[in-house]
Amino acid sequence: MRDVKGKVACVTGAGCGIGLGIAKAFAAADMKVAVVDLNEKSARQVADSLGSNAAPFQLDVAKGDAWEVVARKIEKTLGPVRVLCNNAGVTSVHSIFEDTPIEKIPPVEWDWMMSVNVNGAYYGLRTFLPRFKSTQEESHIVNTSSMAGIVPQAASIPAGYTTSKYAMAGLTEQLRLELASFPHIGVSMLCPGMVQTKMQANALEIAPHAAGMRGKKPDNPYIGANMAGISLERVGERVLQAIRKGQYYIFTHPEYRPLVQAYHRDIDLSFGAPTQAGHMDALPAWLPVHR
Ligand SMILES: NC(=O)c1ccc[n+]([C@@H]2O[C@H](COP(=O)([O-])OP(=O)(O)OC[C@H]3O[C@@H](n4cnc5c(N)ncnc54)[C@H](O)[C@@H]3O)[C@@H](O)[C@H]2O)c1
Repeated sequence: MRDVKGKVACVTGAGCGIGLGIAKAFAAADMKVAVVDLNEKSARQVADSLGSNAAPFQLDVAKGDAWEVVARKIEKTLGPVRVLCNNAGVTSVHSIFEDTPIEKIPPVEWDWMMSVNVNGAYYGLRTFLPRFKSTQEESHIVNTSSMAGIVPQAASIPAGYTTSKYAMAGLTEQLRLELASFPHIGVSMLCPGMVQTKMQANALEIAPHAAGMRGKKPDNPYIGANMAGISLERVGERVLQAIRKGQYYIFTHPEYRPLVQAYHRDIDLSFGAPTQAGHMDALPAWLPVHR
């Protein structure tokens, strides 16, 4: 989508952090921005700061039924959406206070991370894909996964988070294949490393199951780790650039490249002789469509 001017973007989790960075970049490019967030107050503050081409919308992305209502409100206020950024996401709150190997992750926290990080994007696609497919006008979808959705990271990143970001990567890869026959709909997968946001503190604030933990002193260096990362404005600019250039992968941190290469090399070298001699699966003809 070369010409973004005047296009309406729906950015989830735009009340702060990376979503805010994306919203700022879009507004600076004269796009109209639907600032969508669970937190009504921060959505309003961000929309006010962006000017008359932005408007706030309260939405819990994990609530499937609420999406259609918000989509109609956006259309009524700003016009038809042409860019969807499924960006809202949360991380573990238990890991702020203690090491949480897989067996220690409470089911309520696991379910919460999946419902926001994975189901939220699915509902976004379910709401907007029919709209994008029903017109020949250009549109673009950006799903925020993570470097943690491309290559497993240190054990300090909680398993529930990594799993949800791999799920987002899977969803986005599938989306890309499915949209191969819809060239007017672009797709990007945003995979940042560390970005300066208050992700852990925000998760602690909003997690429905975290009431008993708020006010406790964090006991994990992980809580501030993101603040050593890159700025959310730079990430927003990269997202805008990728939309303009039609880039699929948005990698903001090339320092992870050797790690990703080593990981893929391991996969590559693990292929051996056929398990059943003489048998070959018939690989679908469409498989290499985007290679
Ligand atoms: N910060 C990083 O270093 C980093 C790195 C890689 C990927 N990411 C991903 O980037 C995205 C944004 O993270 P961030 O660091 O900006 O976090 P953040 O906490 O700063 O911002 C997230 C925003 O999403 C909103 N939100 C949370 N749950 C929601 C829900 N159910 N419905 C609607 N809005 C909701 C929050 O209110 C908040 O405004 C996430 O998907 C995250 O996984 C972040």
